[in-house]
Amino acid sequence: MNTYRVGIIGCGGIAGVHADGYRAVRKARIELVAGADINPQGAGAQRLSAEYDLQLYGISARCWNGSASTWSASAPGAHPMRGHPGCVPERREGHPVLKAHGRQPGRGGPDDRRLRKGGDHPDRRPRTPLAPQAVKARELVRQGEIGRLSLIWGHCALDLMNNGTHVIDLINILNNDEEPVWVMGQIDRHRQLQGRGNHPDMVMEDMAVGRVGYANGVVGLMELGERADHGFGFRLVGTDGLIEINRPDSPKLKVLSGFRQRGWHAPELVPIHSNFHAKIEELIEAVEGRATHRGRAQHGRRALEIIMGIFESSSRRAALEFPIPAQDFVLERMIREGDV
Ligand SMILES: NC(=O)c1ccc[n+]([C@@H]2O[C@H](COP(=O)([O-])OP(=O)(O)OC[C@H]3O[C@@H](n4cnc5c(N)ncnc54)[C@H](O)[C@@H]3O)[C@@H](O)[C@H]2O)c1
Repeated sequence: MNTYRVGIIGCGGIAGVHADGYRAVRKARIELVAGADINPQGAGAQRLSAEYDLQLYGISARCWNGSASTWSASAPGAHPMRGHPGCVPERREGHPVLKAHGRQPGRGGPDDRRLRKGGDHPDRRPRTPLAPQAVKARELVRQGEIGRLSLIWGHCALDLMNNGTHVIDLINILNNDEEPVWVMGQIDRHRQLQGRGNHPDMVMEDMAVGRVGYANGVVGLMELGERADHGFGFRLVGTDGLIEINRPDSPKLKVLSGFRQRGWHAPELVPIHSNFHAKIEELIEAVEGRATHRGRAQHGRRALEIIMGIFESSSRRAALEFPIPAQDFVLERMIREGDV
């Protein structure tokens, strides 16, 4: 059994959930060693350090999501795991690259090049918690439980670059990572927010709607922010039934299959400690070569391209074909040019 030494960069709210996930790992020995934060004296960092006996380090650079600090943790032998993709597209020396978002530019280097080639890196997919209900739903679709899949509708609170990364990534996962073919989107930004909570310097929209056509004919419908259902929920519509994931006041997975003629039912799910624990075990499997990781760089890039496509479609007031021609952070451009 291998031993992994774990460090946590950013010791706020979600760090505790990750730490709890590491503590539950069974396939390897985990040593939770250190935490790093721009505010090591803060209540969050102090609480985490006390609960998990972490040595705390201060970081002076203030940059967000996919920041230089996380980038530098991508050293040889390290296996970084992050939340949202946190990269925005830009052009560097004439080539499109994904830049870590924040006022301080992300470092170029091996990761950028790997992304450009679309290579593998476990870190680069939005770390969408893949709950048993999602795994089971995909299995049921594959088995033809609801006939031919035609629509996947997903929604959540907040903005595209935040929870939108998870909504879109999970729609892609549920649709077997099929290629997107076209996108039509609209956004609203009436509050003109420059950021929020854990993304204080990333501009955002108040509401977004995206409709994406995939190569297998399935349509993805994504709704975020104001006037969207704020739950992280999904409905899969097939020619012969429906699957609901995470609907409020119902089982996490609910299936209506015309084929079975027995009304709604809730399939049994594999019990897990937490989604965060499950994805750490999955990362260990991949690192040790027993499985291919679902967090391939292409997948993270695809979710990001869909987000940029929704912004670009809103900006041009037109449906767009993939690949999306934009190679910048489209929302930032729209704001700069007075579009929103
Ligand atoms: N994958 C998921 O399901 C999921 C869920 C929640 C949050 N997130 C993401 O995780 C990140 C943290 O979210 P949170 O809710 O814990 O936020 P938070 O505000 O509670 O905590 C963020 C912590 O990071 C520290 N910090 C800020 N800049 C830093 C830097 N450059 N280097 C080191 N530390 C820094 C802050 O001082 C704070 O302690 C966000 O990017 C968020 O979008 C992901």
